[in-house]
Formats: sequence, structure tokens, C-alpha cells
Amino acid sequence: MSIKNVAANQPDSFEFTKENLLIKDLILKKYPKTKIQSSVMPLLSLAQSQNNNWIPLVAIKYIAALLDMPYIKVYEVATFYSMYNLAPVGDYFVQVCTTTPCMIRGSSKIVDVCKKYISEKENQISKNKKCSWVEVECLGACVNAPMMQINDNYFEDLDEKSAEKIIKDLMIDKLPKPGSYRNRKNSAPEKNRKTLLETINAK
Ligand code: FES
Repeated sequence: MSIKNVAANQPDSFEFTKENLLIKDLILKKYPKTKIQSSVMPLLSLAQSQNNNWIPLVAIKYIAALLDMPYIKVYEVATFYSMYNLAPVGDYFVQVCTTTPCMIRGSSKIVDVCKKYISEKENQISKNKKCSWVEVECLGACVNAPMMQINDNYFEDLDEKSAEKIIKDLMIDKLPKPGSYRNRKNSAPEKNRKTLLETINAK
């Protein structure tokens, strides 16, 4: 797991837009009044989506004030979860899972592809500003390992070749199709295999 990257250049102010203030009210309504601080996570996500996929420190302070929470508590949440970015990311934000199932199935090759085509180090935005990448812990799609998340979509059952094609396409704003790259339907077995005993089709 990488250490959270916090932007050196920070904006001076942040507040929700008119539309997002309405969404904020809808979010707060979902929580009992005595547990309102539990809405910290969706509010952080809302701030991130408003601010080009990253959360400035002033937004963390803003949410802390909204929820009457100490700043450090909101900061702890924002730094704990990999889904929150505290520094600018590329238009296409590539998160490569490198936890054990993905690692066993070759995620290091996907990391190498990111290093080659996006940037040598994670959290660096590519020269054309299109992409940045980061290693993350399990994204819950182990059955389709190895995989990566790009913005809101999952790309699964990857190998070096398919990952390379996806990243190259992103660099020229060509949007690749999400899902399995071994033509599986979601996480169903390949080649219509129905049971684990049907090894004949498992190649
Ligand atoms: S280990 Fe990669 S998705 Fe779970």
C-alpha cells in the first residue's frame, strides 16, 4: 500500500456548489441525527467528484465543520481509504490491485506497463496529463484477477498485452471497454464450464 500523496499546492477555499449542497442535504437525510458524522465518507466522495477527482485539505476542513467533527478525524478517514485522492490525478486514474490473488496472477506486469506508458513512479501524472496510476489493495474482484480500476470502471482478467492496449488507448482518449478481457461474462467460468470437474474445457 502506498503512502497517501498529499498535494503541495493547495487551493485557499472550498465549498459545495449549489447542486452539491442539495445532494449533501439528501445524503445527510439518510443518517439518523445522532449518527450524522457517519456521512463523512459520501461527503468526501462528493467533494472529490466536484474537484476533478481529488480532495484539497480545505475541503476536509469544510466537511469537518459541516459535520461538527475535529479536522483530524475527517483527515484520518480521507487518508485511510485509497479511494480518496488528496492530490491531483490524471483524467484517467488507474488503480492497479496488487494484493495476493492479483499478484499471483501477474499484477506486477501490469504495474510495469503503467511505469512504461504512464510514469516511472506512481502518483505522477503522465506528461500529456491524461493518466496517473497507483497501486491499491484488493478491489473486491479477485475472482477476475488480475484487474485494475480506471475512474469508475473495472478492467478484469488482464495480462500484459491487454493492459498495454488499454493504457495506450487511454493516452489518446480512446475509451476501452470495461469488464473481462478473457471474454467471461462477469465472473462466470470460461467456455461454459459448469463444474470444477469439467477440466477438459479449463485450458
Ligand atoms: S486481490 Fe485483486 S481484486 Fe482482490
